[in-house]
Amino acid sequence: MKHTEINDELYDYLVAHGDNSDPLLAELARVTQEKVKDLWIMQIAPEQGTLMEMLVRISGARSAVEIGTFTGYSGICIARGLPEDGTLLCCDVSDEWATIAREYFERSGVASKIDLRIAPALETMRTLPADRTFDFAFIDADKANYEAYYEALLERLTPNGLILFDNVLWSGSVINPQDQSDNTVALRKLNDRIAADDRVQSVMLSISDGLTLVRKRS
Ligand SMILES: C[S@@+](CC[C@H](N)C(=O)[O-])C[C@H]1O[C@@H](n2cnc3c(N)ncnc32)[C@H](O)[C@@H]1O
Repeated sequence: MKHTEINDELYDYLVAHGDNSDPLLAELARVTQEKVKDLWIMQIAPEQGTLMEMLVRISGARSAVEIGTFTGYSGICIARGLPEDGTLLCCDVSDEWATIAREYFERSGVASKIDLRIAPALETMRTLPADRTFDFAFIDADKANYEAYYEALLERLTPNGLILFDNVLWSGSVINPQDQSDNTVALRKLNDRIAADDRVQSVMLSISDGLTLVRKRS
């Protein structure tokens, strides 16, 4: 058992010791809290955003997709890691939250890279040309569809491309056998499926609510 237990103080320390204080993202986090109240918790954590931008950048990804854009925080992080001519397809079902996302995509200077589509993500995926591929994908939406997103994206993923799945620990519920709620069961199934899948290499990180990185084997 080689891990360090995180408490609030240690968490503040690790956030303070990384590039996690971008003023525009901090403003977006504040605005999201004001406008969507309790649902702000759906936004990714700052250090996860930094990690995601770094992964996009160091992997050299040019084409990315995000399922679950909300008010735009993770989308900005992904887009910032892409080159100037890179593209990010953002999928969400909420026009209301997309209005905030669009404003912050503009203000962060990444709007020209982003194509934001408002429709269930599986429908959006079905409308894409058969030869549309992605180097990087981030899944952070309805848990019941995570397995469907996995299959739909894996076939469009370039060799060595990455898929990131958010909330894979589900506040620890994945190891609570008493919890048989739909979302918990869906996440457990996804986690088991990825772990047993020879097509990919994967690692589950304990950042935030759990983040799995999946690399498609070449
Ligand atoms: C956890 S939030 C995403 C948070 C976002 N990644 C961020 O960093 O701010 C989940 C989002 O998934 C969207 N969503 C739910 N079901 C969806 C579906 N079937 N297709 C696309 N988006 C969906 C919701 O509208 C919501 O904005």
